[in-house]
Amino acid sequence: MIVCSCRAVSEQALREAACAGLSPAEVEAQTGAGGDCGCCREEVAYILSRAAGPCRAGGACPGCPRRQAA
Ligand code: FES
Repeated sequence: MIVCSCRAVSEQALREAACAGLSPAEVEAQTGAGGDCGCCREEVAYILSRAAGPCRAGGACPGCPRRQAA
C-alpha cells in the first residue's frame, strides 16, 4: 500500500526504514515521504512508532521484513 502518494513510498518501505532504526527525519531524507505536501506525515509517524518498538525490543512487528526473510 502506498502511504506517501507524492513520492510513491509504500508502507513496506517505511517498515523497513523503521527496522533499520531511522528517525522520521532520516526517513524523509532517504525516501522523501512527508517532504512534499505533508499530508502523509501523521501516517508515516504512526507506522514508524508502531514498527520501532517491537523491533528494537527484539520482537517482530506485523509484516516485519526480517521475520519474512527468515
Ligand atoms: S503524500 Fe507524502 S508528501 Fe504528499
